[in-house]
Amino acid sequence: MLSSFLFLLISVVSLAYSHTVPGLDSLQIQSKLSKRANLVDPIFNILPDDEIDFINSHLTNLTNFNGSKCDSCKNRIRYGRSLLDEYPDKSHLVSLLLFKYCVVSHNNTESKCDNIDFFVTTDSKNYQDFSGDYSSGVEQVGAVNFYDNDFLQVLKRLNVSNDLDLDYYCYYKGSSACKLPDTPDVEELFGISQWWPEKQPQYYFPPNYTNNSEVFNVLHLTDIHIQLRYEVGTEGNCTSTPCAVPESVNQVLPGKDYNFTDSYKVFAPNVTDIELSFYPDAHYDENNQYVKGDYYDYPKYRGWNFKNSPATPFGGYLADAPEILMNSSLLNMAAVHKEKNFEFAIFTGDVVDHIYDSCTPEYTKAEEVKAFSAMKHFFGNIPVLPALGNHDSFPYGQLAPTQYNTTGNSSYTWNEDEMVDLWINNEWFEEKSREDLKSHYAGFSYVTNRGLKVIGLNSNAYYQKNLWTYIDHTTNPDPFGQWEFLVNELVESEKNGQRVWIMAHIPVTDADTLPINSRIFGKIVERFSPYTIANIFYGHTHQDQFHVLYSSNSSQEAEDIINMSWVLQSITPLSNYNPSWRYYEVENESFNIMNSYNYYTQLNETFVNGGAEPSWRFEYSARDLYDPEGTWPEDAPLNATFWHTYVLTPIKNETNIEFNHLFSQMQYRYGPGVLDCKNGSVVSDDCYNDNYCVVGSFYSDDYQKCLRD
Ligand SMILES: *[C@@H]1O[C@H](CO)[C@@H](O)[C@H](O)[C@H]1NC(C)=O
Ligand SMILES: *[C@@H]1O[C@H](CO)[C@@H](O)[C@H](O)[C@H]1NC(C)=O
Ligand SMILES: *[C@@H]1O[C@H](CO)[C@@H](O)[C@H](O)[C@H]1NC(C)=O
Ligand SMILES: *[C@@H]1O[C@H](CO)[C@@H](O)[C@H](O)[C@H]1NC(C)=O
Ligand SMILES: *[C@@H]1O[C@H](CO)[C@@H](O)[C@H](O)[C@H]1NC(C)=O
Ligand SMILES: *[C@@H]1O[C@H](CO)[C@@H](O)[C@H](O)[C@H]1NC(C)=O
Ligand SMILES: *[C@@H]1O[C@H](CO)[C@@H](O)[C@H](O)[C@H]1NC(C)=O
Ligand SMILES: *[C@@H]1O[C@H](CO)[C@@H](O)[C@H](O)[C@H]1NC(C)=O
Ligand SMILES: *[C@@H]1O[C@H](CO)[C@@H](O)[C@H](O)[C@H]1NC(C)=O
Ligand SMILES: *[C@@H]1O[C@H](CO)[C@@H](O)[C@H](O)[C@H]1NC(C)=O
Ligand SMILES: *[C@@H]1O[C@H](CO)[C@@H](O)[C@H](O)[C@H]1NC(C)=O
Ligand SMILES: *[C@@H]1O[C@H](CO)[C@@H](O)[C@H](O)[C@H]1NC(C)=O
Repeated sequence: MLSSFLFLLISVVSLAYSHTVPGLDSLQIQSKLSKRANLVDPIFNILPDDEIDFINSHLTNLTNFNGSKCDSCKNRIRYGRSLLDEYPDKSHLVSLLLFKYCVVSHNNTESKCDNIDFFVTTDSKNYQDFSGDYSSGVEQVGAVNFYDNDFLQVLKRLNVSNDLDLDYYCYYKGSSACKLPDTPDVEELFGISQWWPEKQPQYYFPPNYTNNSEVFNVLHLTDIHIQLRYEVGTEGNCTSTPCAVPESVNQVLPGKDYNFTDSYKVFAPNVTDIELSFYPDAHYDENNQYVKGDYYDYPKYRGWNFKNSPATPFGGYLADAPEILMNSSLLNMAAVHKEKNFEFAIFTGDVVDHIYDSCTPEYTKAEEVKAFSAMKHFFGNIPVLPALGNHDSFPYGQLAPTQYNTTGNSSYTWNEDEMVDLWINNEWFEEKSREDLKSHYAGFSYVTNRGLKVIGLNSNAYYQKNLWTYIDHTTNPDPFGQWEFLVNELVESEKNGQRVWIMAHIPVTDADTLPINSRIFGKIVERFSPYTIANIFYGHTHQDQFHVLYSSNSSQEAEDIINMSWVLQSITPLSNYNPSWRYYEVENESFNIMNSYNYYTQLNETFVNGGAEPSWRFEYSARDLYDPEGTWPEDAPLNATFWHTYVLTPIKNETNIEFNHLFSQMQYRYGPGVLDCKNGSVVSDDCYNDNYCVVGSFYSDDYQKCLRD
């Protein structure tokens, strides 16, 4: 009985694999969602009586637990673990029990139990099986693998006697059931100063470079989030983002007199003769020429109220980037390259879109292949140094330390292996770096022709949504060996007087970074600055941001400045950004950045321009925008002191609404997301959080403490 039900569910899901676009069409998504909406009851209805009794008796025990939210969360974990230990052959029932417990504790609202843990991989909406191989039969419902799912794998390895580990787990993965612990001192906890030789006096100063010798240019792009299922004419103003896929809907139906051009007028209030952009076949041909294709008359065939806001070819503010927007962006970079000759590019991750419902290994891989191949196509022989983002894995956000010897469903190495193949085939890395790349989870140490070392890290190693990071979280500082790798590389470079850039996807300042890891990274930066670490680069937030690191965050004095990091704004317009990228002018010996140049396109123009290509513009140079008087010496780099002086200081001035507004305009590239920074005569809370807390923090715990409600 159980197996026939599962077989039914599986056959619905497996249909998905016959569709041309990897992923699901809308009918299949609908049926998947309706299965999902009614998952728990059907499964329970077909369990044998003894298994129902097993679950119900333990469920009673769990629900009878009387304690704080935090204690209940810990109890649930410990209880689940004790059952796993006691009944190893009933692990699937442990998953079901915990899922049922969650549903019951949430008044039978199953949707409240998404994205937590239980018996699915990491996201209970992911129904696809990891391998696509259903032959193994009863134990799998898509990604719902009862016997060997990720959560059970992690639960088996958690030290449930370690209260602090569980505090972290229950804060991040248990909907803040426990308070975020005060971050322990990582020196006291791990003695991390033992990881490196003592800092010699000369390393407290930057190397004696002139900073005014030859300069060269480096391209930086990030967060493409290509949305392969994007479709012109679908709902572009949907209730649940990302929009513009066939199943997108706006829960507020347009009335019979609604005219969808009103929604374009919101973004283009002064355009009197709106030219509709309905060109579903618009694309770039193999010679990179734009082909608009034929107009499809939605108003004629579907009426003026068939959608709240039909999606147009180059993307919308609530959707990820259609392929054509990615291509338009890369073409713009390639055009600037003709003039500026980028010697290499850094790509700080996230090529995969935000549609969790269609997320499958095939879809993830198809987007990765598409994006990395496009970079090769448009950039030719410029090496691209990529970091994998939290979306660039399946299941989403997961990475398991190889030391745990995981296999099958919870081994994520397939993805890194495929990416490494692709990067080597694109000639960005040499064949001989293959094993190195793999052993560092697609991280690398790469020395450019000019002798700069670029170190790439996989930030899922410190990502709060990665279940595996909670195992021995407060006792094992380095399960991925990533800090050891980084420190060894830095020690070697320091010895050789070589300068280093570090790149990763998630900024250690972001609330997504586990605070202990944030602090460890900060100690490493402090140890190897300013002599060795020249610059640090991230993506992830989609915003144009900077973070200044001080030895004491409470004072933020100029003399306490240690270093800073650059966060690059996204190509994807999700949510409410204009697509954008930047390049750096880099000094040849110090590898300091002398200036940065941003480009962007005003996406709203493409809503009303009859399907014409986006027009890309120069946005700003950091020197000209933030130091218009030119008081910063021409031969001084844009180092942390620059950002402290010309950006953080005016941001901190609570009556300087004008500067805060300017900074917000840059963060969103004049997109609809730009904040209203004025609240009476002072800066509004939103703007304070977005500007001061971001630029004035380097550690994720400091950042979270800074935020105003
Ligand atoms: C429920 O908990 C009690 C107290 O810990 C224990 O004695 C009992 O065996 C548990 N019930 C089951 C079915 O394990
Ligand atoms: C918890 O409280 C309920 C009633 O509020 C009671 O029935 C139950 O026995 C208590 N459980 C424990 C373990 O004390
Ligand atoms: C639980 O659901 C019932 C029935 O839908 C509803 O009356 C009740 O208010 C809900 N309770 C909570 C705490 O949401
Ligand atoms: C688990 O944590 C406890 C409490 O911190 C500790 O005493 C014990 O050694 C840990 N066990 C293992 C196997 O690390
Ligand atoms: C840099 O120059 C200063 C002054 O000329 C000198 O004291 C210092 O030792 C030099 N530092 C290095 C690392 O060479
Ligand atoms: C909707 O608005 C457009 C542009 O303002 C106009 O051309 C069109 O006639 C309108 N359609 C209807 C049915 O009112
Ligand atoms: C999008 O739809 C919402 C209703 O769901 C509406 O409030 C909003 O104004 C619409 N936005 C645009 C740009 O039309
Ligand atoms: C696009 O939006 C910007 C910023 O709101 C505005 O200045 C510009 O006029 C808009 N473009 C069009 C074509 O309406
Ligand atoms: C639209 O036109 C009005 C009146 O001419 C002008 O004040 C306003 O700045 C314009 N808005 C945009 C976004 O261009
Ligand atoms: C993992 O496999 C390696 C090599 O086979 C072995 O040395 C190690 O003990 C295993 N680790 C665990 C935790 O099983
Ligand atoms: C930045 O450069 C300026 C000018 O060379 C220098 O005075 C300052 O100490 C540097 N700041 C840092 C943090 O290295
Ligand atoms: C703060 O900003 C206001 C408004 O721009 C300006 O008048 C004032 O001089 C600034 N204060 C400082 C200390 O710079």
